[in-house]
Amino acid sequence: MQIANRLNRIPPYLFIELRNKINQAIADGIDVISLGIGDPVEPTPQPVIDELCRTAADPANHRYPTDEEKGMFAFRKEVADWYANRYNVELDPEEEVLGLIGSKEGCHHFILAVVNPGETVLMTDPGYPAYRASIFMADGEPHNVPITGDHGFLPQLAEIPSEVAKRATAMFLNYPNNPTGATATPEFFAEVVEFAKAYDIAVCHDNPYSEIVFEGETPLSFLSTPGAKEVGVELNSLSKPFNMTGWRIGMAMGNPELIAGMAKVKGNTDSGIFNAIQYAGIAALTKCQNNIEKMLPIYTHRRERVLNTFKELGWDHYDAPKGTFYLWLPTPDGMSSVDFATLMFEKAAVVIAPGASYGEYGEGYFRMVLTVPDKQLDEALNRIKKALS
Ligand SMILES: Cc1ncc(COP(=O)(O)O)c(C=O)c1O
Repeated sequence: MQIANRLNRIPPYLFIELRNKINQAIADGIDVISLGIGDPVEPTPQPVIDELCRTAADPANHRYPTDEEKGMFAFRKEVADWYANRYNVELDPEEEVLGLIGSKEGCHHFILAVVNPGETVLMTDPGYPAYRASIFMADGEPHNVPITGDHGFLPQLAEIPSEVAKRATAMFLNYPNNPTGATATPEFFAEVVEFAKAYDIAVCHDNPYSEIVFEGETPLSFLSTPGAKEVGVELNSLSKPFNMTGWRIGMAMGNPELIAGMAKVKGNTDSGIFNAIQYAGIAALTKCQNNIEKMLPIYTHRRERVLNTFKELGWDHYDAPKGTFYLWLPTPDGMSSVDFATLMFEKAAVVIAPGASYGEYGEGYFRMVLTVPDKQLDEALNRIKKALS
């Protein structure tokens, strides 16, 4: 049976490998704690569940979704209102907002809408692995732009060779950043707009962690940058702020031409989001901002516990990440990220993600999540302490 060449270019998805490893260890009777996958354990807020139950019972919602390719207007309108309230960004819900089955889906539709086979797409290294997979599936060519601790894990746009920038048709960015936890600034986003205009590059700012920021950082949208809507779109998601990873609902906003292109891909691929999930999404956006207020102190507290533990163990030469529910820490001197992850797995039965799985420049780091219950996190930290002392 022939399988398309483009699939052979995609490395195995990191989390599938991690899940296999964890499942095997559990089958072997080992009590594994996974700090490898970011997926909140706290439940989805009750008003969201209630709204799903109510609207799922209505047969009108059992049919193909309303406004299949764009998402129902009522959902798009609430997205526009949420963006106005949270980020001071004005959006026309008709032309500038699209409902998505999560922001991961949006990355893929963005690339299919914008990039022709063989064209270059800029992405950061380290970076969220799904960007590379989307680029490969559209037969595009990823170009890795390094991000390092020296520059707060922000890409140095002026250092991208001009022949690469001229060739590039699209660019992925993601701040607050997975895996580094770095946040961006309005000044950086202004540079991005200037760069994108100079080289005619469509920007996809993937922003699912917009609400998860620490230490007085302000939630920020790329679209609040003057000119951003002329060059790109932003993706966001209900997954992380409302503990809704399994519900599969997100949104794309911004440049109307790009939104229309993505809607065309969507309308010919998935026929939209179950209406009842869109109604539940409206409940999240209108009634559940307090979930974010509840979760932030939880993540802050866990983050402090992890950082204090590593400080006790001698980790004091890095800047603590300012956003997301990931911690991105350097491996002990001279140890590769895979060796360190293996050591943690074998000596502590704790799963962490080796930095190298996010790209060449992720080498020398590892990523841990803050989305496990406090008790489990404490147990993991105790085991790590024992393994390293
Ligand atoms: C940077 C980034 N983008 C997108 C996603 C996917 O989010 P969603 O659940 O909205 O598809 C994730 C999930 O981990 C992520 O880290």
